[in-house]
Amino acid sequence: MTDTTAAPATDVCRPARLADLAVIEDVDKAVFTDKPYPYFVIRQLFDVHGAHCVVAEEDGEVRGYALVAVVPAESTAWLLSLAVLPGSRRRGFGRALMDRALAICDEARVDRMRITVRPTNDVAYRLYKDSGFDWVRTEDTYFGVGEARDVLEKQFRR
Ligand SMILES: CC(C)(COP(=O)(O)OP(=O)(O)OC[C@H]1O[C@@H](n2cnc3c(N)ncnc32)[C@H](O)[C@@H]1OP(=O)(O)O)[C@@H](O)C(=O)NCCC(=O)NCCS
Repeated sequence: MTDTTAAPATDVCRPARLADLAVIEDVDKAVFTDKPYPYFVIRQLFDVHGAHCVVAEEDGEVRGYALVAVVPAESTAWLLSLAVLPGSRRRGFGRALMDRALAICDEARVDRMRITVRPTNDVAYRLYKDSGFDWVRTEDTYFGVGEARDVLEKQFRR
């Protein structure tokens, strides 16, 4: 039986492949129940940003994923998605994915990374603060009426 309480192995992340997209869709549905990315959006995001899409995997099963979009003209990267399956949380997958996202920023030599987060999402907020992100602004209708998001940013010194 799989031990779901132990910490994951050090390097649990690998680049996502086309064959992972259906599972990423499942993760998104399980995590963002009210607003998952539909498959066609995941596919097109993958076509554009696939080199910066990472999955966390254990025992051959995807436990979560992160998607980074790099905007070289603005020397900025956005963490568009970070999700870990409910049954695999609090075991370091989220932090491992965040570390990989930060490594992508390093490789791309961007000056900053931005994230949007629901103001009430204390769990994600804690991980982001811990990873060096600071609040920049709140947009009350970022994703439409009643869907406020905080924009957080981390500056890199190069
Ligand atoms: C946010 C999320 C990715 C964290 O994934 P995770 O695998 O549980 O995270 P980790 O085990 O690596 O924990 C990393 C840090 O997050 C914070 N954290 C995670 N779960 C927490 C909880 N239940 N309560 C408080 N802090 C928590 C802690 O700071 C933790 O560090 P610590 O273990 O040193 O205390 C996961 O909870 C998730 O998918 N949530 C729903 C989707 C979401 O909110 N995504 C981000 C915004 S779009």
